Amino acid sequence: MIHRFAGKRVLLTGGASGIGRATAERFAAEGARIVIGDVDLEGASTVAQSLGGKAFSYDARDPAAAGGLVTEAVEVLGGIDILLNVAGIMTWGRFEETSPQAWQRTMDINLSGPFFLIQASIPHLKASKGNVVSVASAGGLHPVYGTSAYGVSKAGVIAITQSAALEFARFGVRANAVAPGGVATPMHEKSSAGGGVDPAIFAEAAGRNMPKLTDRPACTPEEVAAAIAYLASDEARYATGTVLVLDGGQITG
Ligand SMILES: NC(=O)c1ccc[n+]([C@@H]2O[C@H](COP(=O)([O-])OP(=O)(O)OC[C@H]3O[C@@H](n4cnc5c(N)ncnc54)[C@H](O)[C@@H]3O)[C@@H](O)[C@H]2O)c1
Repeated sequence: MIHRFAGKRVLLTGGASGIGRATAERFAAEGARIVIGDVDLEGASTVAQSLGGKAFSYDARDPAAAGGLVTEAVEVLGGIDILLNVAGIMTWGRFEETSPQAWQRTMDINLSGPFFLIQASIPHLKASKGNVVSVASAGGLHPVYGTSAYGVSKAGVIAITQSAALEFARFGVRANAVAPGGVATPMHEKSSAGGGVDPAIFAEAAGRNMPKLTDRPACTPEEVAAAIAYLASDEARYATGTVLVLDGGQITG
């Protein structure tokens, strides 16, 4: 294992599960010190403890929670070198049936969450000449049938990444994103199992926007973690405002 993050102070969200958990494990294995913010405090604490880190309760729906999480992370770590926005929810629903509540919840967690967490972290990232990596989605670059609210929120994450890259480059702070297609995580399993969603949507979606690399199993959380780690490392020191797509060719048409 390469050791690119020795002593680096990493704040990440969504570390209780899936991609966030694999990312926390990857960064810790490469020497980072980890603080996790997650609405699932129990799950996040289990992961953090196993990595010698610390977890705090954080709800991305609440902009005020961003400042609180950053304060807690800085108390534990003494600063922040790397911010990883991983927490998010999947929202299925046809365009014309998406309720205002489902729309708002999706925007609050997936879009406002990363925005206000970057805003709260930026003084510390300027001080460390650090960087941010956010988890967007292939659905933010190309529509995935039956997920319009989700796609809009993730397109917004890409726009946030590009705006942050533009505004903070003069301070030496980088901002990048990864855009996975389907990744085998609890979120994905819930989606595949329906999760209360009209099963007809899956039938309508079938055959549209499918990965083109069909000779291999689906993308794993560890592979997404590896892409996040690359972007956050000095190996990517000239990359900012970029989106690394990991979708098996899904958006190629
Ligand atoms: N799994 C996929 O196919 C896939 C594809 C593209 C992008 N993504 C994105 O990757 C990220 C991680 O997804 P995952 O598949 O690991 O899902 P997951 O459900 O396994 O994990 C999501 C994590 O986010 C946390 N979370 C949810 N709501 C929160 C809130 N309000 N405040 C704070 N934390 C909250 C959960 O507790 C959990 O730990 C998400 O942003 C998701 O949109 C996933």
